Amino acid sequence: MEFLSDEIHKYISEHTTKAPEYLNELERETWVKVIMPRMLSGHVQGQLLKLLTLMKRPKYILEVGTFTGYASHYLVEGLTEDGEFHAIEINEELESIIRKYWQKNLKSKQMHLHLGPAEIKLREIQKPWDFIFLDADKKGLLNYYEILIPLMPSGGIMLIDNILWSGKVVDKLSPNDKDTKIIVALNKRVAQDIRVEQVILSVRDGIMMVRKM
Ligand SMILES: C[S@@+](CC[C@H](N)C(=O)[O-])C[C@H]1O[C@@H](n2cnc3c(N)ncnc32)[C@H](O)[C@@H]1O
Repeated sequence: MEFLSDEIHKYISEHTTKAPEYLNELERETWVKVIMPRMLSGHVQGQLLKLLTLMKRPKYILEVGTFTGYASHYLVEGLTEDGEFHAIEINEELESIIRKYWQKNLKSKQMHLHLGPAEIKLREIQKPWDFIFLDADKKGLLNYYEILIPLMPSGGIMLIDNILWSGKVVDKLSPNDKDTKIIVALNKRVAQDIRVEQVILSVRDGIMMVRKM
C-alpha cells in the first residue's frame, strides 16, 4: 500500500535538503553492488534523522541494522564532540562499503562498527543510549526494544523504522505474515508501555518515535 502519490513523494524529495555528493555516490554504489538496495534510507529520512540529532545533541547514538552505512552519516550530525556512535550490522560483506564512506565523514573516529547479530552485540555494548535508530530484522524487534528501553536515560529517543509495513498493519483482509504480526505486537507493546510516550510518523514506511519518560 502506497500512502502518498508519486507526485507527493517527488515534491517532498525536491523540497527537502539534498544529500551531500559523497552520499549520492554511496547510494549509487549501493544500487550497483548490493542486493536489496531499497533498504537504504534515502535523503528525506536521512534529513529527519539529522535534524532530530541536531536538536537532541546525543552523547551516545546507536544504529541497529546499518546496511551500507548511509543513515549513519545523518545520525552522527548531532553527536557531541565527546560522543560515541555505535552501529550493529550482521552482514560482514557490507564492511568494506560501510568503512569506505565512513572514512570520508569528519566524525569517523567517533564511529564504531560491530559486525554480528544484534541479539548478541546489544548485550556486549551497553551504553546509556540517548538516541537509537532501530532498523534491523523484524524477528528480533520486541527483544531489541526490551533490551534497550531500560538502558536509555530519561528523555532518550528511539526511532523504530518500518512500523507501518507498507500498510499491512491495518490489512484485515489478507492473513498476516510473520513480520506483520511482530510489528503489530511491537506497536501495541509501545502504545501500552508506561515507561514511554510515542508518536507514529508516516514518513516512508512509518517511523515510531519513542521518548523514554
Ligand atoms: C533496512 S536495512 C538498514 C538500513 C540502514 N539503517 C539505512 O538507513 O540505510 C536492515 C539491515 O539490518 C541488518 N540485519 C538484519 N538482521 C540483523 C541482525 N539480527 N543483527 C544485525 N543486523 C541485522 C541487515 O543485514 C540490513 O543491512
